[in-house]
Amino acid sequence: MIKKIKLSSVLTLLSFSLFSQTPIEMKIALDQPAGDISPSMWGVFFEDINLGADGGIYAELVKNRSFEFDTPLMGWKQLGEIPEGAMLMINDNKRKGNRRSLQIKKTTDFVVGLQNEGFRGMGIKQGGTYEFSLLYKQATPGIKLKVELVDSVGHKLGESLLSLQNGEGWQSASVNLSANATTSAAKLNVWFQGAGEINVDMLSLFPEDTWKGRKKGLRKDMVQILADMKPGFIRFPGGCIVEGRDLANRFQWKKTVGPIEQRELIINRWNTEFTQRLTPDYFQSFGLGFYEYFLLSEDIGAEPVPILNCGMACQFNTGEVVPIDELDEYVQDALDLIEFANGSLDSPWGKIRADMGHPEPFNLKMLGVGNENWGPQYLERLEIFKNILKEKHPEIQLIASSGTGPDGDRFDYLDENLRAMKIDIIDEHYYRPPAWFLSGAARYDDYDRNGSKVFAGEYASHTTRPNGPGRSTWEAALSEAAFMTGLERNGEVVRMASYAPLFGHVDGWQWSPDLIWVDNLNVYGTPSYHVQKLYSLNKGTNIIPINRDGKNVTGIDSLYASTVYDQEAKELILKFVNYNSTSKSVNFQIETNKSIKGSSERITLANANLEVANSIEDPLAIQPVSKKVNYKGKVIKETFAPYSFTVLRIPVQ
Ligand code: AHR
Repeated sequence: MIKKIKLSSVLTLLSFSLFSQTPIEMKIALDQPAGDISPSMWGVFFEDINLGADGGIYAELVKNRSFEFDTPLMGWKQLGEIPEGAMLMINDNKRKGNRRSLQIKKTTDFVVGLQNEGFRGMGIKQGGTYEFSLLYKQATPGIKLKVELVDSVGHKLGESLLSLQNGEGWQSASVNLSANATTSAAKLNVWFQGAGEINVDMLSLFPEDTWKGRKKGLRKDMVQILADMKPGFIRFPGGCIVEGRDLANRFQWKKTVGPIEQRELIINRWNTEFTQRLTPDYFQSFGLGFYEYFLLSEDIGAEPVPILNCGMACQFNTGEVVPIDELDEYVQDALDLIEFANGSLDSPWGKIRADMGHPEPFNLKMLGVGNENWGPQYLERLEIFKNILKEKHPEIQLIASSGTGPDGDRFDYLDENLRAMKIDIIDEHYYRPPAWFLSGAARYDDYDRNGSKVFAGEYASHTTRPNGPGRSTWEAALSEAAFMTGLERNGEVVRMASYAPLFGHVDGWQWSPDLIWVDNLNVYGTPSYHVQKLYSLNKGTNIIPINRDGKNVTGIDSLYASTVYDQEAKELILKFVNYNSTSKSVNFQIETNKSIKGSSERITLANANLEVANSIEDPLAIQPVSKKVNYKGKVIKETFAPYSFTVLRIPVQ
């Protein structure tokens, strides 16, 4: 008996020391809001990297549809026997932006066809309808087409016949195919039957089931996962792609609007950027061009944030700069873009927008000039943009680059000068290890409240780069969540933030980690995606101070917190990161004259293993878990799981 008592007391003591800790006290000054949160605070960064656009969100399944790649038949295989001279690559100078077409001279004596391999195959779904289309010109009519979808071993998934109309000049034709099976590795066969002479171009295959059912539109699942985040903005088209390896390879938005067959294809700079990840078949078709970017922004309720070239090519590559006396063309591009987005129907660029199907303005409010550019040569060019843009369009907020990293001489020089120039918004980029994010939660606490605002335009916690591909682990995501409490607490200064890059194709990436991964049929969000989404869906409207012993909660005992109030939902929203291997108990005392009462949600992302990541095979290894909680009274007692990010929505009456 004595022994028994002793054992149970030992157990009680043990469990007390293991499981009961004195709760940490924190105070939330609900009645003392400290500034507003920008409605476009949490957004997304889109770049055609990692097959993000071509081979990704742009739903075209045919690679090199217009034979304009450097190697004209890259992605294509000739089928059948082709006598000398029966298949020729024609280069016609008169065809603006799209000079090549394939000429076939056929008799009934031989069989000829073409096979397209798609972007690492074509994702085809059983029961799905796919529209094949092409442009053609017949010198001697008589050829008709048989179009087939086949799987990787040649089994037929669907076929259709397409008769071509007689007529002069270039014409278009299309036919639908239905697929009888699902595969991520389909190929398209186009057989030329009969006899005649024909030129073909823009051989294209799109699923009928695109985002909003738009013809030749965007991949539905990839847009949906963005829409689910309710992003406040979309930054496009990048990234380094804005700059180009050289000026000739820069992104020129005017060449990305109008009829798609006239949009001049260029090599994608990520084709050759990393010798260890060469991607020789990566080009930009611009089927996803500036009109489509604006439309996508509008569709998902995000502010469009275009970034334009400032007259400089990527300084990691050629670093070419345009002479100052030739900068006019670049500045004019910016002025014309504002007109394209916002101009009236009787303005030249407003009319082009209307002719493309959008008479209403896109309501552009912000514009970036330069991406990761630096040095006096940048400031000199920026100054010219700024003076003209501010004179002609004072309503547009100007975003400028603070270079490639968040510190050091290059950053300090730019930051100081951009502030002196009174630039509206300074774009900061940081790809850093988790420890940097954890120690940086107070980064903005001392930033000037009255000067330029900050756009955390590209950031991601990198666990293993540059020595190997970075993985989007829970460690990376949790360190970002901790850092983001600092962005939120300083929402008065940091008006916008976006993780980068956005998409990665598992079979075609150059840069990792990325926020969302896809293959030809599937899409999943990384742990970082869930963190971003939780911030965005719980962004609130006003910053509310939270403190422990009078100080911001920025990492003491590896705890991080921020709070906002949501005027519409009438809820106090707490974001809390416990970056410990043990659980932590906290008593939150809410200082307010209002009453705290009602039921709401507690959403947690947690895993004791920081190495866990999501994948195509296990897309939800880390996912938010939500439960209903009843709140009553101004002291809220919570215990936070090891390595967890928690969002509490606390009703206020
Ligand atoms: O997000 C990938 C690249 O990182 C961007 O293109 C560039 O701006 C940065 O260096």
